[in-house]
Amino acid sequence: MSSALFRTKNVEQSIQDTEEPEHALRKSLSALDLTVFGVGVIIGTGIFVLTGQVARNNAGPAVALAFVVAGVVCALAALCYAEFASTVPVAGSAYTFSYASLGELPAWIIGWDLVLEFALGTAVVAVGWSGYIRSLLDNAGWHLPAYLAGRDNASGFGFDILAAALVLGLTAILVLGMKLSARITSIVVAIKVAVVLVVIIAGAFFIKGGNYQPFIPKPQSVAAAGNLKAPLIQLMFGWAPANFGVMGIFTAASVVFFAFIGFDIVATAAEETRNPQRDMPRGILGSLFICTVLYVAVSVVVTGMQKYSRLSIEAPLADAFKATGHPGYAGVISFGAAIGLTTVCMILLLGQTRVFFAMSRDGLLPRFFSRVHPRFKTPHRPTILLGVVIAVVAGFTSLSELAELVNIGTLFAFVVVAISVIILRRTRPDLPRAFRTPLVPVLPILSVCASLWLMLNLPAETWLRFAIWMVIGFLVYFFYGRTHSRLAQRATEPAGEVPGPQSGNVA
Ligand code: ALA
Repeated sequence: MSSALFRTKNVEQSIQDTEEPEHALRKSLSALDLTVFGVGVIIGTGIFVLTGQVARNNAGPAVALAFVVAGVVCALAALCYAEFASTVPVAGSAYTFSYASLGELPAWIIGWDLVLEFALGTAVVAVGWSGYIRSLLDNAGWHLPAYLAGRDNASGFGFDILAAALVLGLTAILVLGMKLSARITSIVVAIKVAVVLVVIIAGAFFIKGGNYQPFIPKPQSVAAAGNLKAPLIQLMFGWAPANFGVMGIFTAASVVFFAFIGFDIVATAAEETRNPQRDMPRGILGSLFICTVLYVAVSVVVTGMQKYSRLSIEAPLADAFKATGHPGYAGVISFGAAIGLTTVCMILLLGQTRVFFAMSRDGLLPRFFSRVHPRFKTPHRPTILLGVVIAVVAGFTSLSELAELVNIGTLFAFVVVAISVIILRRTRPDLPRAFRTPLVPVLPILSVCASLWLMLNLPAETWLRFAIWMVIGFLVYFFYGRTHSRLAQRATEPAGEVPGPQSGNVA
């Protein structure tokens, strides 16, 4: 039984599966498309909404350092992701990588975990988008009734109609095909980056040096330990929970980490990339680098424009301009943020459907979901199913409750990918790797430690919710996936596995 749980899918088989016509996705993306795709999903609610919240509550102007910390954690993970993505170029991201290296049960765990990351991430961003749209509507004098403006704004029943409508609209675009969505993405990414540059360049003229004093505010104690809202690390070591100070930078980093989520999704498009061996590492590392530079610059500018303790927590970038007496810029920024969040939402949804698709193609979820549409060549069934579920979740959920859960799920995926790099180097040293992670095993081990460190800085209640989700996943695997797995069924067929014609690409 234990050997069945750790059966691995060989890399040639993973690639061969993608060549079956009824399960094949169209290969159309270049390195530039991937970078645009990465920047399109990475810059979003994190920088537009969380910066102000974290500067105000946890780190002060040192929020810029929190972005550096989170960026370093992501860069370490990206170097591991890039090796895997260029070696196993099939849909499914960390799920596929771990199936080829760690075995079926770990792969299931990671796939289930990615479903959480992408589905809830989509919902979080849709709710953030809806807030910006409502603020623009309010400026124009139009107001939605409270019961249609989301849970946070309603005293009784509250449904966020705009967030739900966004998710359903994007679902329709994704069903119609990757090409269409990639084109829309490029235009929207250009608008979003332009708005971020406006914040940095225009904002630089309104910086007052005094706002940076103190750069790292003194620690302030908060409610007593033992409270599930305290970071797990503080509960574990019995430290008095505090905000600000040096530890506050790490707490902040574990939250603004959300702003970096997305570069891993570039890896989920490996199967749709023309030359994954060369273009994947370029796409992943390139988009991560661009975003890190922009985040640090934005946070330095915004905390210089307005005292951190007065930053707004709903629309900090726009409100900092209002506070310096420039409401015109604020309107432009709100508009750009609303447009920018649209692509984030769309690409998270796309990553989600691709993981679900890969798990279904392997038989761990019903295979009904992995038949691609005969005309559009998209996995329309999981796209529609998940789109509807996420629209409902986005309609009924408040933003802050979910962002931390998304972070823990993503960091967990990073840990698994880094371990997988080390294992696959030992079990399949023969595979050509277009991109090799430097300093193996030191760098992957550092990546594991860095990701675990950020996880430990998340609240204990986030760990609890994550554990509940994973227990549900184990039940689904033991009662469905384990017996329906395509790999299990192949194992009972008389002939052994014969590498397909494409195996020459990788072996
Ligand atoms: N990184 C994305 C954001 O900030 C998910 O919204």
